Amino acid sequence: LAFKERESLYIALSFARDFFVKNLQTAEGKSIGLSYFKERGFTPTVIEKFDLGYALDGWDHLLEAGKKAGFSEDILLKAGLILQKESDPNRKYDRFRGRVTFTIHNISGKPIGFGARILTKDKNQPKYINSPETPVYHKSDVLYGMYQAKKAIRDQENCYLVEGYTDVVSMHLSGIENVVASSGTSLTEGQIKLIKRFADQVTVLYDGDPAGIKASLRGIDLLLEGGLNVKAVVFPEGEDPDSYSRKVGTEAFQSYLKEHSKNFIGFKIELYQDEIASDPIKKANLIKEVVQSISKIPDPILRSVFAKEAAQLLEIGEEILHTELNKSLIKKQ
Ligand code: CTP
Ligand code: MN
Ligand code: MN
Ligand code: MN
Ligand code: MN
Repeated sequence: LAFKERESLYIALSFARDFFVKNLQTAEGKSIGLSYFKERGFTPTVIEKFDLGYALDGWDHLLEAGKKAGFSEDILLKAGLILQKESDPNRKYDRFRGRVTFTIHNISGKPIGFGARILTKDKNQPKYINSPETPVYHKSDVLYGMYQAKKAIRDQENCYLVEGYTDVVSMHLSGIENVVASSGTSLTEGQIKLIKRFADQVTVLYDGDPAGIKASLRGIDLLLEGGLNVKAVVFPEGEDPDSYSRKVGTEAFQSYLKEHSKNFIGFKIELYQDEIASDPIKKANLIKEVVQSISKIPDPILRSVFAKEAAQLLEIGEEILHTELNKSLIKKQ
């Protein structure tokens, strides 16, 4: 029975994907959804590659089409496609309305959920509405774009990690296919395990804003703990991979990634370089932070190699760095 339910959920989610994709070709879909994607520079090729679509503006377009196609309200509910009214649980309505849709696939390419972006600048509404947890969609084990990226990740032996749906799509437009998104949530162990199935190296490309930098620092430590080789890029203030690639163009974007990919030590130094130049206390804090990150590395030999590099880059004695490192390793035990 459990197997049957999962199968029906997959079928319902595929139906919804098809519905949203087809909506993009209706009069409303063309004038609102398709024109939005075009404005963002999304081509028909990537729209198709990522199953991008449009949820019509109205309360029950998907609900009615789904019922007509033979899906029960119960399955549509369990798939996260519809909601029930709090005041009257018998009344159901579409979760995604008047938004462009990003299909979330599992690694074999089956739709398991959706992210839906608002088209207005209305600050009272969330920018994205996402599928809830369901029996087939466990957010903490999914990375957006992995189905489209997995081959390139293996070939390139590197996985770019971005924040958002649009960053993934834009990077494909820039000819970079080894990219996945953590979709705004903080990186999990399950997601790191998923990456490790395909590559040993991750390059973190989070947004160049305080939230993105904070998430990078946390993500880097988790990735190091997971035994991955970690690089990171700092983007100019206010830019994310999508905005920046569109701003400077494909070639300049690719060179930016090459030139600014630093290991975690270089990333932290770049992040704090202005402050540490004039403030020895800030520099001491940076050294402690770097030591903290090194202590996350499970392999003692690699740890020692990075300690040596940190000593050089931070211009501090290797012995004192090792002493500090040993202190934090003992604390961890
Ligand atoms: N996100 C979300 N809900 C929100 C805001 C963000 O789920 N209310 C997730 C989305 O997966 C989004 C990611 O976090 O793609 C990154 O958020 P943000 O940087 O704010 O959005 P962008 O992806 O840059 O989207 P856009 O360029 O369309 O503004
Ligand atoms: Mn489960
Ligand atoms: Mn962001
Ligand atoms: Mn962003
Ligand atoms: Mn963006």
